Amino acid sequence: MKSALTVLLTLPLILAAIGIVNQDAAAEDETSNLAKVDYPTDYRYWTHLKSMILLENHPIADTFGGLHHIYANDAALTAMTDGEPYPDGAVFVFDLMEVVTDDEETATTEGPRIRKDVMQKNEKLWSETGGWGYETFKGPDNKRIITDPVASCHGCHASQENNDFVFSTFRE
Ligand code: HEC
Repeated sequence: MKSALTVLLTLPLILAAIGIVNQDAAAEDETSNLAKVDYPTDYRYWTHLKSMILLENHPIADTFGGLHHIYANDAALTAMTDGEPYPDGAVFVFDLMEVVTDDEETATTEGPRIRKDVMQKNEKLWSETGGWGYETFKGPDNKRIITDPVASCHGCHASQENNDFVFSTFRE
């Protein structure tokens, strides 16, 4: 049997360990409520919908400044062209690159990637945000950075409710 002294000496360690475990569980809980958006492995083979450059003086340039390309997977493209609601499995990628202009200022092209923003449809998993899961994969390590998809993403996409929360449209 452990002596009282041993218990007293190890108690703080035990409490600290429980605290750490609980903190981990809490941190886990914050994000585990939210299903994770899948990393869009092969999106560069999907359909390119459009591109746009947000210049430095754009109101959201701090987050989205640069040259972005938007891609749709087959499920998203079919629904878009048929004018149907997006089915589970529809995915869009907003691929943001730096803007590079040559020294002579004669041409502008894309530089290194800044971030990829993804919307993935699943009515059950993301019912709180119109059936869309939102994630940002940032930098070369594709680090997931979204903890509050309403504040970071859905609040603004909500303006497109009549278009199932999607801004982009299809052109031939
Ligand atoms: C301030 C408004 C705003 C916020 C915040 C915002 N978006 Fe968007 N998003 C847009 C607009 C506008 C477009 C269309 C851009 C274009 O036409 O090139 C867009 C396009 C997209 C697309 C392509 C599909 C579509 O709707 O056209 C994806 C994917 C996307 N956003 C993901 C995200 C994610 C993930 C977040 C959160 C990190 C986010 N967005 C936050 C305004 C916003």
